[in-house]
Amino acid sequence: MFARSMAPLGGLFLVLLVVAMASSTVPFSSAALPRFEQPIKSDGSLSLLAVGDWGRNGTFNQSRVAFQMGRIGDDLDVDFVVSLGDNFYEDGLTGVDDKFFEESFTSIYTAKSLQKQWYAILGNHDYRGDVLAQLDPALREIDSRWLCMRSFIVDTEVAQLFFVDTTPFVKKYWKTPNKHHYDWREVAPREKYVSNLLKELDSALSESTATWKIVLGHHTMRSVSDHGDTEELVERLLPILEANGVDLYVNGHDHCLEHISSNDSPIQFITSGGGSKAWRGVFDPTVDKLQFFYDGQGFISLQLTKSQAKIVFYDVFGTVVHQWSAAKNFNFFM
Ligand SMILES: *[C@@H]1O[C@H](CO)[C@@H](O)[C@H](O)[C@H]1NC(C)=O
Ligand SMILES: *[C@@H]1O[C@H](CO)[C@@H](O)[C@H](O)[C@H]1NC(C)=O
Repeated sequence: MFARSMAPLGGLFLVLLVVAMASSTVPFSSAALPRFEQPIKSDGSLSLLAVGDWGRNGTFNQSRVAFQMGRIGDDLDVDFVVSLGDNFYEDGLTGVDDKFFEESFTSIYTAKSLQKQWYAILGNHDYRGDVLAQLDPALREIDSRWLCMRSFIVDTEVAQLFFVDTTPFVKKYWKTPNKHHYDWREVAPREKYVSNLLKELDSALSESTATWKIVLGHHTMRSVSDHGDTEELVERLLPILEANGVDLYVNGHDHCLEHISSNDSPIQFITSGGGSKAWRGVFDPTVDKLQFFYDGQGFISLQLTKSQAKIVFYDVFGTVVHQWSAAKNFNFFM
């Protein structure tokens, strides 16, 4: 456990050093996406849990979902946990000393099986607070599991996970934020940030030799629930995923569980945004093929080997409500 959680910290230090050096000489060069190495189990498998849209001090069933994550995490002996953003409601954290971090994270996900590395990205609600605080390594001194970055890559022997900061894509947060303030420090101007990110992602994906390529972001790509499809992502991110043979796009944002299959590619769209407040009561079909929709709280697990992938969806009782698996054959003869 300690070896596991130390590896990303060492990697992070190196990356920050490179970023610092690059930015002092060439202010606008885009540094390559930070990378972390995640070991797999000795039997060649990897398992993880993914949950989004959760930090509410345990309310709205957050604690019940957390308890079931602990139980399933133990059953599967998960290697790490993914947070898909909207980590702290309603407006992110106020600073690195915000007690809401411990109240909504440390004191809630207490199960032994969840004392692993957490890889977190930001959601739109996180951008309404002090974003730099959520990204600050000082939080790891309070809870060593926490690793939150805007966009980064987790390398494993069976899969590569590409975490993408999707909030800056969405124009309405910039143009019509209404009463909300979005913290765009180190992001603005938008177009430069988004096009650099897409370029970095495209090159990382095209170099990838991983069996399973998994892209994770906060915002929906395809969704039948409240927020629906995120147009900016369908327009700009989806073509890159299709061109590079991505298998899964995993997101939060809509507070429900969804599985939608693309009509034009092998991509599966997975929503796991049921970390706390749910039951929105919206159902609005999209152009792609709906496999599963559950409007309540829950989370997913992902189990991977070089030849197989399995996704399981759980509700607030930890009951399996849907599952999907896929296999890849290795035919090396031509
Ligand atoms: C969160 O819960 C703790 C413990 O129950 C309480 O002391 C604190 O005031 C709550 N915080 C908020 C923001 O509701
Ligand atoms: C918590 O989960 C139970 C079981 O699904 C449900 O009946 C209840 O309405 C949920 N509470 C909230 C606040 O969503």
